[in-house]
Amino acid sequence: MSVRLRLAAIGVAAATAAAGLTLVCAPAAVALDNGLARTPQMGFNNWNATHCSGDFSEAMVKGIADLFVSSGLRNAGYQYVNLDDCWALPARDADGNLVPDPVRFPDGIKAAADYVHSKGLKFGLYSSAGTKTCNTAGFPGGLGHEKQDAALWASWGVDYLKYDNCNNAGSTTTQQYIDRYSAMRDALAATGRPILYSLCEWGVNDPWTWGSAVGNSWRTTGDISDKYSSMLSIFKKNVVLAPYAGPGHWNDPDMLEVGNGGMTDTEYRSHFSLWSIMAAPLLIGSDIRKATPATMSILTNSDVIDVDQDPLGVQGTELSNANGLHVISKPLANGDRAVALFNENSTAATISTTAAAVGLPKAFGYQLDDLWSHKTTETAGKISATVPAHGTAMFRVHGGGQWWSNPPAVHTSADLPVPYPGAPALVQPGVTTTVTTVTSNDGVLPGLFGSVKLTGPAGWTVKASSPTFYPVLPSGHDLTARWSVTSPPDAPAGNYPLHVSTTYEPGKSTMDYDLVVSIATPIPSGTTQLGDDPWLSADNGYGPVERNTSNGESKAGDGHPITLGGVTYAKGLGTNAPSTVTYYLGGRCSTVSSTVGLDDEKTGAGSVSFEIWADGKKIADSGLIKRGAPAQTLTAVTTGASLLRLIVTDGGDGNTNDHADWATPQTTCA
Ligand code: GLA
Repeated sequence: MSVRLRLAAIGVAAATAAAGLTLVCAPAAVALDNGLARTPQMGFNNWNATHCSGDFSEAMVKGIADLFVSSGLRNAGYQYVNLDDCWALPARDADGNLVPDPVRFPDGIKAAADYVHSKGLKFGLYSSAGTKTCNTAGFPGGLGHEKQDAALWASWGVDYLKYDNCNNAGSTTTQQYIDRYSAMRDALAATGRPILYSLCEWGVNDPWTWGSAVGNSWRTTGDISDKYSSMLSIFKKNVVLAPYAGPGHWNDPDMLEVGNGGMTDTEYRSHFSLWSIMAAPLLIGSDIRKATPATMSILTNSDVIDVDQDPLGVQGTELSNANGLHVISKPLANGDRAVALFNENSTAATISTTAAAVGLPKAFGYQLDDLWSHKTTETAGKISATVPAHGTAMFRVHGGGQWWSNPPAVHTSADLPVPYPGAPALVQPGVTTTVTTVTSNDGVLPGLFGSVKLTGPAGWTVKASSPTFYPVLPSGHDLTARWSVTSPPDAPAGNYPLHVSTTYEPGKSTMDYDLVVSIATPIPSGTTQLGDDPWLSADNGYGPVERNTSNGESKAGDGHPITLGGVTYAKGLGTNAPSTVTYYLGGRCSTVSSTVGLDDEKTGAGSVSFEIWADGKKIADSGLIKRGAPAQTLTAVTTGASLLRLIVTDGGDGNTNDHADWATPQTTCA
C-alpha cells in the first residue's frame, strides 16, 4: 500500500456546505488516503469492559468473534474485533520484537487474528506513540520501533491499529505530535497491508486540524467512562468539530459504553444516537457475551446505524442547544435528513425544529420515520417530540412521497412549574400540583378521536380538571388539559413516574412516556455540612460522588481523606470532573460556602472550575483552577432559592480525570 495523498479541503468544503454551516477555519490539510474507513469504523474493543483484568484473553476475543456472527452484529455492520492495552509482555524479546502475553494469549496474537479472520471479520491491535503504553505495568510502546512493530503486526494479520499517547518522551508541540504519529503512519504504509490507523492523543494538540493527513480517525477528548455526565461532556466537545470529519478521517469521541451498566437504557440510546448522528466510530465497549436484550437491541438498531454509516460521510451539526435541549441534524446521501432531539436535563421536555431549519426543500408534507419506535408519521413541517429526561428522539425525514399514507405526528408535552428551564420537577408530599398537558398536531391531516391520559404511581391521585378527549384535532392545533396531581402525605423522597399516554386515529397511534417528578428531603435547619446533608442528585464524571472523602477510584466508598495543598478536611464532597450535585433548599437557606481545589491524590496536568448556582443563577465561580493552585473559598447568598447546584467543570481541557473537592461545604437554613 502506498500512502496516497489528496486534497481534503475539497471534502471539508463540500461537507460544510451540505451541513449548511459557516465555518471559521476549515483545515486545508492533505488527507491520508489508505482507502479505509470510508464510513466510520465499526467493531469491538475490550477496554471499557475489561481494562487489564483477567477477562481480557484469547477466550474473550474468540467468544466475541463467535457472537458477532451468531447474534447478527456482523450483519449489522460491526467488523473489527480489537485488542486494547495489556496484550503484550512488559519486555521485548532478544530481537526487539513485542511478545504476546502467554497467559492471556496462549496461542499468540496471530492465532487470535486468524480466528477472527475465519469468521469473516477483521482484527485490531493497540500500542502507544511513546516508550511505554498507558497501563502502569509499562508495556512497550512503539516510539523508535515503528517499522519493526508495524512489520510484526502485518505478519500477524493486523487490520487496525489504535495508537495511544502515553509516555511520549515529553513531547508537547503540535509538530512533535505530528512527527510521532506520522512515523507510524509511514511504517504501516510500508508493510503493504491495509491497516486502519486510529490516533489516540485525546484531543491534546487539536488533532482535527492535522489528523486527516495522518490517520483514519482521531480521539477528540479524554477517556469516556460509563457515566451519563462523561458521555454528555464528550458529546459537547465532539459535536462542534463536525467540519473536520469526512470519509476516511473521523472525529472519535471514544468507544461505546452501551451495556456496561453505569447508565440507563434511555441514556445508552442517547449515547448511541448521538455517536451515530456525529458519524463517530462505533466500537462496542461492553462484554456482549453477557449483554441484555435491551443492549443488543440498541447496538443492532440498523436505522440508527444507517445514519452513522451514511455514505455522504457528513458529521451532524448542532442547530441549537438552548437550556440543554439539543437539535442535531445530519444530511444523508439520498437527500433525507437525520434529526436527533436530545434532552440533557433530568425532566421530560418538548424539543422542536422544522424541515426548513434542517435544510429540507419545501414540501406540502413530510414523512417522519422515528428511528427508535420505528413508527412513521407525517408532518406539515414541524419536527417535535416530547423527550424523556436524558433521552433522544431520532428521526429520518424527507419531503413529498406518500407522506399522506401515515398518521399525523401528534405529541403531548407535560409540564409543571420549575424554578429554571431544565430543573428537576419537584412535588411536595400530600400537596396538590397542577400538571398541564398540551397535545399538538404537527401533521397536515387531522388527528381523530384522540385522548390523553396521565397516570400516577399507586397511592397518588390524578384528576383532570378540563377535557382530555377530542373528536378532531386539526392540523396545527393544540388541546390543553390540566391535571391535579397529589402524592400521599407520607410519600418518601424519591423519583416518581407520571405516565403520559396519547391515543388517536387513524391507525390507533399511541405515544407513551414518563414525566418523572421528585420528592426531595429538605436540608436540616441550622448550619450543616453538605457532605452529610441529603442531596437530590449527584452526577459525576467517574465513579460516584463521595461524602467526606476524595473521589478515589470508580467504586463507592473507595476515597481518601480530602486533601488540598497538604491540608486535610474531615468534611466535604469528593468529585471527579465534570460533576453536578443538586440540593433542595426549598427557599429556607440563606448562605452557602466551601473551600475548593484539586485533590492532592492525583498528579499531572489538570484543570477545573467550581461554580455555585442558586436556581437558574450562578452565584459564585472560582474561575479556572489548575493543579498546584492554592485552595480557594467561595461564599454566596442563596436566600429564596429552591435548588442549589455545586458544579465542577472540566476546565475545557477535555481531561475527565480531575479529582475536585468541595472541602467543608456548608449551608445555613431556617
Ligand atoms: C488510554 C486510552 C484508553 C485506553 C488506555 C489503555 O487511557 O485513551 O482508551 O486505551 O489508555 O491503557
